[in-house]
Amino acid sequence: MKVETLRWADNKLEMIDQRILPASFEYLTYDSAASVAEGIHSMVVRGAPAIGVAAAYGVALEALRLPSTLRQAQGERSEFDKGMEAGFTVLAQSRPTAINLFWALKRMRSVWESMKGQDNAAVAERLLAEAHEILAEDIRINRAMGAFGAQLLPDGARVLTHCNAGALATAGWGTALGVFRSAVEAGKKISVIADETRPFLQGARLTAREMVQENIPVTLITDNMAGFMMSRGEVDAVVVGTDRVAANGDVANKIGTYMVAVLARRHNIPFYVACPLSTIDMNIASGADIPIEERSADEVKGFRDYHWAAEGVSIRNPSFDVTPAELVTALITERGVVRQPDRDKLRALFK
Ligand code: MRU
Repeated sequence: MKVETLRWADNKLEMIDQRILPASFEYLTYDSAASVAEGIHSMVVRGAPAIGVAAAYGVALEALRLPSTLRQAQGERSEFDKGMEAGFTVLAQSRPTAINLFWALKRMRSVWESMKGQDNAAVAERLLAEAHEILAEDIRINRAMGAFGAQLLPDGARVLTHCNAGALATAGWGTALGVFRSAVEAGKKISVIADETRPFLQGARLTAREMVQENIPVTLITDNMAGFMMSRGEVDAVVVGTDRVAANGDVANKIGTYMVAVLARRHNIPFYVACPLSTIDMNIASGADIPIEERSADEVKGFRDYHWAAEGVSIRNPSFDVTPAELVTALITERGVVRQPDRDKLRALFK
């Protein structure tokens, strides 16, 4: 089943509102960089690659929106350029951890800068074409990762995943869930164990929905059940996605991933990370330097107006954690599988 997490319609960006899935299915419409930034911040769209694609469209929308008559006066920065800079800034501030956001903005900026001095309407068209290409490329990359990853899973494997690294977290197919889809496509019987993923419940709401819709057997557990399942020999492999991999192979992913990796090592279960090259940040030496988003206490306190936490208690809500490279069995990339990732192996990927 094709899931269009983001789509271009009537010269606007439409994104599935992931906050209300699976109870309701609805597209929201976006027409500016600021509105897309708000969509990313409020998690209408989430998942590292999908955030990158959304940001690319945000830049294109801003170029389309700004009046193309805002020409450059002699020796001055044009109003168009100033508007574009403001668009880049608001998008860059939408979420801090997923490097794909900054990767996509850098790519869009280099297109924009390569066209300085050209007609604004032509710049907008070119930026839109680049956003379309980033979307299409993301699906191709997920397919390639899926094919490599599928080979790692034995027929009949029971695979645990954390958060949602599926079609909904990308432009389509998915990174970790793309590996499951590709394994099934290759004729393997696999079953998925989905961690619920407190507090935003991406596992219960999104991963479970994607797998159920595709008839891939899936069992939902709460996050604190993973150790029990592993200790009983009910997990053969773990596959997760990632928001940023540091140059030494440390992996930032949804809060709780580190716990799963430690448990996997304790039980001799392979721990795989599906990771497009756009998620590797060679400018960050180790995971200690990856910015970790701290989200609102309300997500932990309760749901909507109902608060189960004791009033007055202080609350932490770090949204990601870092799994040290030594706990990672392999990264699955579009260029192949990198076993026991380290600085040299990651550097070699970019040669
Ligand atoms: O806070 P989210 O839902 O954006 O976090 C998403 C994750 O942590 C995913 O595992 C990660 O982005 C990989 S998605 C292919």
